[in-house]
Amino acid sequence: MKGIILHGGHGTRLRPLTHTGPKQLLPIANKPMSEYCLESIIETGIKDIAIIIGGVGSDKVKEYYGNGGKFGVNITYVEQDEPKGIAHAIRLCKEFINNEKFLVFLGDNIIQKSIVEFTERFKNSNFDSTILLCEVNNPSRFGIAEVKNNKILKIIEKPKNPPSNLAVTGIYLLTPKIFNIIDDLKPSWRNELEITDALDNLLKQNDNISYEIITDYWKDTGTPEDIIHANGEIIKKMDNSFEKKYDKNKNDGKLVIGENCEIDSDVVINGPVIIGNNCKIECGTVIGPNASIGDDTEISKCQIKNSIVMKKCKIHSNVKIIDSIIANNSEIFQKEKSDDGKIFLLGEGSKISF
Ligand code: G1P
Repeated sequence: MKGIILHGGHGTRLRPLTHTGPKQLLPIANKPMSEYCLESIIETGIKDIAIIIGGVGSDKVKEYYGNGGKFGVNITYVEQDEPKGIAHAIRLCKEFINNEKFLVFLGDNIIQKSIVEFTERFKNSNFDSTILLCEVNNPSRFGIAEVKNNKILKIIEKPKNPPSNLAVTGIYLLTPKIFNIIDDLKPSWRNELEITDALDNLLKQNDNISYEIITDYWKDTGTPEDIIHANGEIIKKMDNSFEKKYDKNKNDGKLVIGENCEIDSDVVINGPVIIGNNCKIECGTVIGPNASIGDDTEISKCQIKNSIVMKKCKIHSNVKIIDSIIANNSEIFQKEKSDDGKIFLLGEGSKISF
């Protein structure tokens, strides 16, 4: 089998974070979210993987994953010149896939359970496709499968009146049969070739699609809230890892602290929290629950809760930061007399709430 990771798109709901790079490289627990997809694929034993790139900062994807050598796999890059949909992106990989079965993973989907069993079952089956479904509360936001007596009856993209709450997740097990189906697809209302339309047509053709249900955590990380939530869930599942001297900071939550950190004795950490390498945390700072701090970041005097602070940030201010994502190299300082007004230098699409 071969693998495909979709790494394109504009990530509009995540601007300004996505002005400088693709959303799939945004960190969850200090690691690009698409790396979790890559790890899931690698776990299945797949060695040949295509990454579909396009949109802002595609070169950063190539720079990070390279030829796959450091992950023990072969990575090929396929460019999608415009965001014309998931099915369009898959169609671009026809030559790469050749005649094999394959696994497609959307680079912004986060799961915690291994997909090895699902993949093995599909590999040994005669199904044209196996899709992974997961129950959701807001079915109109997703592709939805109508299921009866363990059979899929219909697959619909973002239905206004959802026939079920079983979302089609962004993990698809496919055979090359899908390529001819995609060739006959018409663009949807959002001007994309929808994978759900392709799957529904494939279903109509042979009635030979199976499904598996993800009962564990699954998240399509389209918004800042989704990313922050996934961040906490991933940290919770990590192993505790910190030097003994920080033990006193620990409450029941998970705590992961990198190398070469300097953390003052009056700092309070409420897990789940991950702190990268070479961080300096001082002066009564309170971190967590649910916070990640990237490498080389310096923090003093503040509270950071339910938030992601990326690499090389400097936060030295008596401020309570909640539900926030702060990108690499950002700085927050406190003026001597803060009642004089506040100073902002914000990129296009920035959001601030007082
Ligand atoms: C896409 C698919 C949708 C699927 C979702 C999963 O939606 O079109 O069927 O449920 O991914 O992440 P989009 O993120 O493009 O809105």
